Amino acid sequence: MLIKFLLTVTSATVAFSADHGTYKNCSRVEFCNNLRSRTPSDDYLVDSGSVSASIDSNTLTATLKSNNGGSDLTLTLSGLQKNTFRVKITEVDFMRYELQDVLDGEPEGLNFDDVQIGDNSVTVTTASGSNSATVTFSPFNIEFVKDGVTEVLFNGDRLTVVNNDVTAPFSFGVTFPEGLQLFGIHEHCDSVALQNTEPGSTDPYRLKNSDVAFYELNSPMALYGAVPVIYGQGPTATAGVFLHNAAEQWIETTNNQDDGSQAYFMVEIGTLDVFVLLGPSPTEVVRQYTQLTGTAHLPQLWALGYHQSRYSYESQDDAKEVASNFDSYNFQLDVLWLDIDYTEKYKYFTWNPSTYSDPVDLQETLASTNKKLVTIIDPHIKVEVGYSVYDEALANDLFVKNANGSVYQGLCWPGYSSYMDFLNPAAREYYGSMYSYDNFPGSTPTLAGIWNDMNEPSVFDTSLENTLPADGLHFGNIRHREIHNIYGFLHTMSTHQGLLARDNGERRPFILTRSTFAGSQRYAAFWTGDNTADWPYFMPPSRNV
Ligand SMILES: *[C@@H]1O[C@H](CO)[C@@H](O)[C@H](O)[C@H]1NC(C)=O
Ligand SMILES: *[C@@H]1O[C@H](CO)[C@@H](O)[C@H](O)[C@H]1NC(C)=O
Repeated sequence: MLIKFLLTVTSATVAFSADHGTYKNCSRVEFCNNLRSRTPSDDYLVDSGSVSASIDSNTLTATLKSNNGGSDLTLTLSGLQKNTFRVKITEVDFMRYELQDVLDGEPEGLNFDDVQIGDNSVTVTTASGSNSATVTFSPFNIEFVKDGVTEVLFNGDRLTVVNNDVTAPFSFGVTFPEGLQLFGIHEHCDSVALQNTEPGSTDPYRLKNSDVAFYELNSPMALYGAVPVIYGQGPTATAGVFLHNAAEQWIETTNNQDDGSQAYFMVEIGTLDVFVLLGPSPTEVVRQYTQLTGTAHLPQLWALGYHQSRYSYESQDDAKEVASNFDSYNFQLDVLWLDIDYTEKYKYFTWNPSTYSDPVDLQETLASTNKKLVTIIDPHIKVEVGYSVYDEALANDLFVKNANGSVYQGLCWPGYSSYMDFLNPAAREYYGSMYSYDNFPGSTPTLAGIWNDMNEPSVFDTSLENTLPADGLHFGNIRHREIHNIYGFLHTMSTHQGLLARDNGERRPFILTRSTFAGSQRYAAFWTGDNTADWPYFMPPSRNV
């Protein structure tokens, strides 16, 4: 959905680069600006009398005393299966939102088989002693060792945890002593090997899902997806950390051949909940990550074929002509895609009565030559009394709200739109049910897949970086800033559940999504958004590492 975007939104500033006026750099984001310039200092030490850990349990707890007037913290360190540990750090006197739905089930614990509590440290081991975590009390830090090799250091001097009425940012740092090169923290338009963002030659890598048309090459700017896992790779060992948190975050990266590579996470809000993945091979470390967040199902055979998707086929006659031309000229075509013009006034789950008056005929025509159809369905719902999806979602309280509790409305393709609150299980259930053959009249099994677009979510409001207001309210009075990066994930979760139900659980859903988070692989494939058909977008230049 590129062309219309340009015409309606950025017509004054069309240029082949992202708009730095709209999308902020670190110095314009208060928590990033503050945390980036913080000098490492030992603000916390472990209260040795508070340490609790025993064999036949998988959890160590301890209190971290603040020596700068901040809240005391609770450290929880758990042993997990598959050479993984989990570290949570939260205030003793402040509640933080804990992310739901992202993990592919509750991770399986692994009990400690040895616990050694000393004067200035405690060491717990798992897997018959091949994995260990040593918490040093003063100065506070945690060392993770696998088979005698220190693979990850949690740097206590980079830990900050603060909260105020509006927000509650935190930071932490990790070192991969054996990691010569960092990888991960997708999605950025950059080389696979991450660059050095320290000491400030460029911004840190940003994770804040954004609708960024014409994004820049070789840039740490945020794109449509966020996967907060980073790997430190080296010849001796490859390890990783996965931050289970869907708020906006920035990551300072330093590749270092001598002392190991470092990553410094600066996070707007939510819980410091980190999984430490001890590899030690690149394959094992990725398996450890997918054990937590899941794997993709096999693609449908037809989904591996030739797909034709252009903005846009204005009518069913256009669409049929394109398909029949493929046949006439003997080009293989397996799937035809429809962008938003098939709908009536961009109301999803409808067809335009004048230009797509007979969608069943279109699908029968495609099916007669063994082709499938995919249609776009976005998360914004046109504000229009009489449009049943709008009326029902409003009546059942399924939309995102403003901070004052009224239903939020923002501009998108249909004009004023409200946004499904996918954090609400009832909204996921309702929206998913709209995919049924009854609720989406004119759909048949030939409509074999769904394209979920605009789900960062995108709102045409440059003053808000083109997304929902950070203080908007979701189900359970959760602020949008707490869950921003999983909005698209939850959208596809709802679509997946709806398509499974539509076909009585007998077909694997095919979903293409623009916005992603860790775990999105369980529900959808993704594409790279609105770039240009130019070589560097296929293959960003490699860096010397
Ligand atoms: C951040 O963006 C603002 C506005 O575009 C610009 O004036 C400033 O120079 C930028 N700062 C850095 C460090 O790039
Ligand atoms: C609630 O907030 C929205 C967005 O700021 C505003 O447009 C609306 O007028 C407010 N409603 C009330 C009742 O204050």
